[in-house]
Amino acid sequence: MSPVAGFDEQCGWIDILENASATGFAAGNWPLRPHTPAPTVTRFPLIRPDIPPLADWTPILEEAYRERRFTNFGPLSRRLEQLLAETWGGPQAVCIATSSGTAALAAPLIARGVSGRVILPAFTFPATLSAIRMAGAEPFLADVSPHDWRLDVDTLRHALDTTGARAAIVLCPFGLRSDFEPQARLVASRGGTLVVDNAAGLGVAGRPVEVSPHAFEACSLHATKPFAVGEGGVIFAHRSQEDDLRRALNFGLKPGSPTDLRGWGINGKLSELHAAVGLAAACGFSERLARRQALVARYVAAVKGREGLAACTDAAAGAWQFFPILLPDTAGAERFVTEAAARGMETRRYYAPALSILPDVERLGPCPVAEDLAARMCCVPVYSDATETEAGEMVAVFQAALAAALAPPSRGTTRPS
Ligand SMILES: Cc1ncc(COP(=O)(O)O)c(C=O)c1O
Repeated sequence: MSPVAGFDEQCGWIDILENASATGFAAGNWPLRPHTPAPTVTRFPLIRPDIPPLADWTPILEEAYRERRFTNFGPLSRRLEQLLAETWGGPQAVCIATSSGTAALAAPLIARGVSGRVILPAFTFPATLSAIRMAGAEPFLADVSPHDWRLDVDTLRHALDTTGARAAIVLCPFGLRSDFEPQARLVASRGGTLVVDNAAGLGVAGRPVEVSPHAFEACSLHATKPFAVGEGGVIFAHRSQEDDLRRALNFGLKPGSPTDLRGWGINGKLSELHAAVGLAAACGFSERLARRQALVARYVAAVKGREGLAACTDAAAGAWQFFPILLPDTAGAERFVTEAAARGMETRRYYAPALSILPDVERLGPCPVAEDLAARMCCVPVYSDATETEAGEMVAVFQAALAAALAPPSRGTTRPS
């Protein structure tokens, strides 16, 4: 059958002039349209959410209906908190469920009464900054290390000394395993507060910081994260901080005591609906994590020996919301995104732009490293449910897009005389 002129949902405008007589229009009368190349179908979107099937979590939710309890640290949230604390918290840690990763970052600052400037890296997702403003404090940017993309302890010390700040948020970039003990000791020695933004890192073995009254870890349970409920988050905190954190997440009120108001707070509690999803997500999580890590190991093997690229090569060091790879320059990163898209794979520049492009945020100085990283970092999809065929195709697309992006630009057709 010959194609019919018109709009095809997959392909956009097909060549209508060729088929003009079939549609009853004389070719000469048909308005000229620029030929738009057919957009490529995205076979591999950046994220395939790992939200458990309905059948897995609606039976858990029935408990909330029976008790008519849908939020306010209800039994499902408490059960999820206990499970996550036992699995990933240290001996002194409690886990507190929150309505988002952003609320999980803000609550420790509110609970500890932090005011004034709070140091944060310029290379992060904007939520890190939003959380500081949500807590009523003032974000103060510092640059990151070119070696590991993190805010190092010397820069943090300099930033604290310069500003008089007593609190900081540091980032585990892309949820990659990090060691923030030196930063935690520094902040604790000044009686301050350190929050580790490990938004994408829930599930990675080894905590970035030992919780203490001064050190907290916040993770996101957003639909894009490997441990996903839709919207949600968790805080790992020292047990001595639990009551103040719950107040901070409950308008300053002690949960269950509606007139016991001390300080102020936000509404940052996880609903029982999301907690039910979380309890279902915990089942089979380690198998899904292992499948993500196995796909990353194949990406890593595919880039081994290629000059000019930087990536974390330890597949066990991440839960892998996606796989970040640093291209040699901005033009190469742009080419990589285009080449991958042409082969049906969605990739994304992340964390771009660097927060230092914001004009109204104070900073220690210029942030050239964060800006350079943001201009070159590309993220590639990682799924927990890729079939063997899909995984092979994803690695092949990744390799081909890299090869095309790194190929030296063609020099045109002019022949030397
Ligand atoms: C580094 C970082 N911090 C914080 C957040 C905020 O998490 P949420 O979306 O759950 O509020 C995100 C979200 O992607 C993030 O990437």
